[in-house]
Amino acid sequence: MPSLQNAVTVITGASSGIGKASALAFARAGARLVLAARRAEPLEETARECRQLGAEAIAVVTDVTDEVAVQALAQAAIEAHGRIDVWFNNVGTGVVGPYWEALLDLQKRVVETNLMGTLHGAHAVLPHFLRERRGVLVNMVSMGGWSPTPFAATYAASKYGIRGFSASLRQELTGYPDIHVCGVFPALVDTPGLAHGANFSGRAIDPPGPFLTPEHVAEVVVGLVRRPRAEVAVGLPATAARIAYGIAPVLTERGVGAAMRAALRRARPDTRSEGAVARTVPTGTGTRSGKPVWHVRGPSLGGVALGGLGLLVGAELLAGVLTRRG
Ligand SMILES: NC(=O)c1ccc[n+]([C@@H]2O[C@H](COP(=O)([O-])OP(=O)(O)OC[C@H]3O[C@@H](n4cnc5c(N)ncnc54)[C@H](OP(=O)(O)O)[C@@H]3O)[C@@H](O)[C@H]2O)c1
Repeated sequence: MPSLQNAVTVITGASSGIGKASALAFARAGARLVLAARRAEPLEETARECRQLGAEAIAVVTDVTDEVAVQALAQAAIEAHGRIDVWFNNVGTGVVGPYWEALLDLQKRVVETNLMGTLHGAHAVLPHFLRERRGVLVNMVSMGGWSPTPFAATYAASKYGIRGFSASLRQELTGYPDIHVCGVFPALVDTPGLAHGANFSGRAIDPPGPFLTPEHVAEVVVGLVRRPRAEVAVGLPATAARIAYGIAPVLTERGVGAAMRAALRRARPDTRSEGAVARTVPTGTGTRSGKPVWHVRGPSLGGVALGGLGLLVGAELLAGVLTRRG
């Protein structure tokens, strides 16, 4: 889909963060937007900002855990525009902390939101894509869909699930060359998302970064719809995580675990919070949270990532040799 002019585009999770940045990016590209999230006012604000950019945009309050509401979202797009060209399943949330510490209800809600929300979206839009024999479905994954995320195990489970779902669906649709299923795998992005997640770690969650901007992720998503690909990494840490876990899974798992344990130990104590996982919170309606972001995508960072990768592979090979000797 080289041009997005008038492309009817549904984006879930458009009241903040990457979803809001994506709505604005698609608006600039001339798309007609149908935007969804639970909070009416910030969602309407995103729609207003899209209209100020000259795009058509409507807001449809939707909880993606509710399959009937997601069907109604698709229906609203069809009633407004007669077709759907692009559907971006962007909604996502998480629970941070040891898995056994957080309420099981919240963990279930993460799966219902991230994984079931994506399944609901696909189920609602695919009949329209199949009828037209064309369309682009973009599923938000994360680099946490390529390598483990200790202390956010349910988040990882949901993102691995979305990745497996997308890869499988792609094969079911091989008879439809103009229907595409794409996955986006960003590294850390500065959004209100971290504050919207639940925190049962007992520590303040304030990772040092580096953070991408949501606007950068949004541009990647626009590019992905123009030139659909199965999976796209956003940011070098995502590429490094993919390669490292592919080549040296044991060491990557241990390395990520050690880094997360150390980061939590160093963090200041904080109270537990359920965030916006089950119920909305009024805070966090912008695209960013205000952390210093990472604009550098030059060779020095690439060198660091590749150097780290080299170390991982070397250590994995060494560990293999030592294990065999033992
Ligand atoms: N930030 C990162 O570092 C990062 C990295 C990789 C991937 N991602 C992924 O990017 C996506 C967007 O996250 P973000 O960082 O932009 O966080 P965010 O600002 O919290 O955005 C999440 C959006 O989803 C909506 N939402 C949450 N639960 C919902 C539900 N049940 N039904 C409908 N809408 C719901 C939220 O709005 P309401 O509260 O108004 O519903 C909000 O608009 C997520 O899938 C996340 O996993 C984020």
